Amino acid sequence: MLTPFGPGLRTADGPEVEVFGFRYPTRMALIRLSDGRLMAWSPVRLTPGLRDAVEAFGPLARIVAPNALHHLSLGDWQAAFPAARLLAPPGLAAKRGDLRIDAQLGEAPDPAWAGEVDQVMIRTRITDEVVFFHRESATAIVTDLIQRVPAETLSGWRAVVARLDRMSGPEPQVPRKFRMAMTDRNAARAAVGRILDWPTQRLLIAHGAPVAVGGGAALRSAFGWLTG
Ligand SMILES: [Fe+2]
Repeated sequence: MLTPFGPGLRTADGPEVEVFGFRYPTRMALIRLSDGRLMAWSPVRLTPGLRDAVEAFGPLARIVAPNALHHLSLGDWQAAFPAARLLAPPGLAAKRGDLRIDAQLGEAPDPAWAGEVDQVMIRTRITDEVVFFHRESATAIVTDLIQRVPAETLSGWRAVVARLDRMSGPEPQVPRKFRMAMTDRNAARAAVGRILDWPTQRLLIAHGAPVAVGGGAALRSAFGWLTG
């Protein structure tokens, strides 16, 4: 149920989700902090098996919605893990008034993970997204800003649109819609510069295969259109 992706880091695959007929594979991460408590990043649909696996890994202390697009399962996770605090980016509170959001995600790390997980917010007109770096496993964790949806899950005009959008393809890429949505290019470039300064070895993304070796190079390549 949980797949090791590095020291202190596990992933879990969720079901495909469909948005406008596009099928996306989904993946979440669980980070075990030095005190043993867990941080759940972008939780996927909660099943009894996944719940058991999380409980076996450690006590869940934080549920993180890294952008305002990944929110479908948050309520179920809150109900199952009432002791965990939910952190969400600007914009989600207005969209999901039914959720109890305990704190807003920003540039400053939550005290629970400060010194162990770094974060940078990238603002776009689609959503603000907080990109994370788990120091112990040297893993950068990106939600929607970098994707590689498997081409074989798409067909017909959707396959063409996905390829033109650069959301599918062999390499992890920033989809064209997000490039256009980064309207403040200087701010985006500065934020990405901080991300590229991380000593990244692994790259984890929500939609598509992760990069187990050469994650830093994959990040530099994905953001090359912005950094020149
Ligand atoms: Fe997504």
